[in-house]
Amino acid sequence: MYIIIFGAPGVGKGTQAKILTSRLDIPHVSTGDILRDAAARKTELGLKAKAIMDAGELVPDDVMIGIIRDTLNQERCAKGFILDGFPRNINQAAVIDKLFTELRIEKIVILALEADDEEIVSRLTNRRACKECGQIFSIREIEEISNCPNCNATGSFYQRNDDKEDVIRRRLAIFHSSTKPVLDYFEGKRVILHIDGLKPVDAVSEQILEKLNNLNF
Ligand code: AP5
Repeated sequence: MYIIIFGAPGVGKGTQAKILTSRLDIPHVSTGDILRDAAARKTELGLKAKAIMDAGELVPDDVMIGIIRDTLNQERCAKGFILDGFPRNINQAAVIDKLFTELRIEKIVILALEADDEEIVSRLTNRRACKECGQIFSIREIEEISNCPNCNATGSFYQRNDDKEDVIRRRLAIFHSSTKPVLDYFEGKRVILHIDGLKPVDAVSEQILEKLNNLNF
């Protein structure tokens, strides 16, 4: 199954993608994770991307399109994927549509996760991740523990540089102006499943799996 998980920053795309990847046995391709990994390794791409990401702006399309083209051509993506973070504007949407045709991928499902901006600001200011395994948490889940519940690493929680309130609001503004119109681009062309992202994590996953099961794919 070929899935695009779509929605505002902080709506829960990464959280759900990690659950779905094990339930559906298809890889999670996150453009944000690819860029953060490049930044941590201080590659040329990573160093350029880091300043842009920390400011909450979008990395240029030519860079992102190159990354996506390389990744989706990999053998591990041949039988399906959960694409998280791409496309982020109409130009990227048109490019990926063409790429799907080239790769003969027809049955694409867009999961559109939805939540309001104030919930998102609250989720992102409270988000922490484990440096060792990358698992995402809300600060409430880890406030009384020092070891990661996923990999048991000690004292390894960190906050992303772009999870400061002013940067979050900039990311949300870009989402509304540039990214949200991507849904209009795909409307009537691809299957779009609207998902209530305000429910608890498990309920969101169940909602997604039920809607996927009901598809005639
Ligand atoms: P990226 O990493 O893609 O960030 P994003 O889209 O802004 O999304 P986030 O990772 O912040 O949020 P999420 O929806 O995954 O939420 P999460 O599950 O963590 O991109 C980062 C940057 O890279 C961009 O700003 C840009 O610079 C660059 N970039 C990437 N792709 C690009 C592209 N295509 N073009 C150009 N530039 C690009 O959840 C958030 C928090 O909420 C967590 O704490 C979680 O525990 C909690 N939570 C999740 N679900 C629930 C729930 N149901 N109820 C309560 N809490 C919940």
